[in-house]
Amino acid sequence: MLGTLGLFMILVHLVLVQSRDFEGYQALQISFSPSPSPEPTAFPCERSKPNESASVMYYNVKSFGAIGDGVSDDTQAFKMAWDAACQARKSSLLIVPRGSSFMIQSTIFTGPCRNTITLQIDGTIMPPDGPDLWPMSSKRQWLVFYRISGMSVQGGGLIDGRGEKWWKLPCKPHRGVKGTTIAGPCDSPAMMRFFMSSNITVRGLRVRNSPQFHFRFDGCQKVHIDSISINSPRSSPNTDGIHIENTNSVKIQNLVISTGDDCVSIGAGCYNVDIRNITCGPSHGIRYNSSINIT
Ligand SMILES: *[C@@H]1O[C@H](CO)[C@@H](O)[C@H](O)[C@H]1NC(C)=O
Ligand SMILES: *[C@@H]1O[C@H](CO)[C@@H](O)[C@H](O)[C@H]1NC(C)=O
Ligand SMILES: *[C@@H]1O[C@H](CO)[C@@H](O)[C@H](O)[C@H]1NC(C)=O
Ligand SMILES: *[C@@H]1O[C@H](CO)[C@@H](O)[C@H](O)[C@H]1NC(C)=O
Repeated sequence: MLGTLGLFMILVHLVLVQSRDFEGYQALQISFSPSPSPEPTAFPCERSKPNESASVMYYNVKSFGAIGDGVSDDTQAFKMAWDAACQARKSSLLIVPRGSSFMIQSTIFTGPCRNTITLQIDGTIMPPDGPDLWPMSSKRQWLVFYRISGMSVQGGGLIDGRGEKWWKLPCKPHRGVKGTTIAGPCDSPAMMRFFMSSNITVRGLRVRNSPQFHFRFDGCQKVHIDSISINSPRSSPNTDGIHIENTNSVKIQNLVISTGDDCVSIGAGCYNVDIRNITCGPSHGIRYNSSINIT
């Protein structure tokens, strides 16, 4: 709410995160459901069974039935591919291939996994378009990674949150009309949430138009975010780029962030946070409440 700031600006002001934390945790409990087991016909590789002697196991979501036409619901295929990759004894690469657009519903990808897992996003991933198409129980988060240790999310792909209809909910600040708001349902999903996880790397992706926070980390350790671009319109409400809370040993670097709210917001219970080379604007800067080292 402090207006436009230029590049490399750092702002310090207080932020209230306790209520967000509580709400998010409740939403997670409500929307948690057991993952389905993979169907016997689903094989990780495009045309063959996995090569047991290779050092990395490959799991392409299309081999699990994902269509990738931007309309079909690919949620089950992603869940099955995740389960297979997560249960692999070796490191696994879960592939979202280039040239396709996958529509997936709010989903919790649950660990712990047997080995490290890399989510390679080269295509586009997006949620259903707007609040009317979302189930009531999961309106506070879209893609959740829960209890994962040793995961990397990378690739040249795009994660598109299709936030436009959420930003227009009556309860959101109407920035053109003297900042007035009208009562109404307001919950909006954070796009990617990492919860109680460790050793997480996010690298190289393009991320845009989140209904609310683009990335949210809570209860995590050893988080590294590198070379991401995050883009949402200046007028989009609460679209913080990266929000962390109760999370430590965080390195955030080489990011270009342009959103309607903070570039990075740091809530309660964070320490050892290292932020460098962030290009931030017209978003509000970096917001925090603890004693943190920012270089
Ligand atoms: C700021 O951090 C302190 C210490 O971690 C905490 O006690 C306090 O509640 C926080 N304030 C806000 C507004 O989050
Ligand atoms: C399986 O992977 C190993 C190691 O990468 C490779 O040498 C071998 O040729 C592969 N076998 C097949 C059938 O692809
Ligand atoms: C962290 O995860 C990466 C894979 O993303 C893995 O290669 C590495 O060994 C892990 N490090 C630790 C300390 O677990
Ligand atoms: C800072 O980040 C930008 C965007 O990722 C990158 O192009 C540039 O090389 C980085 N600069 C340094 C000094 O690492």
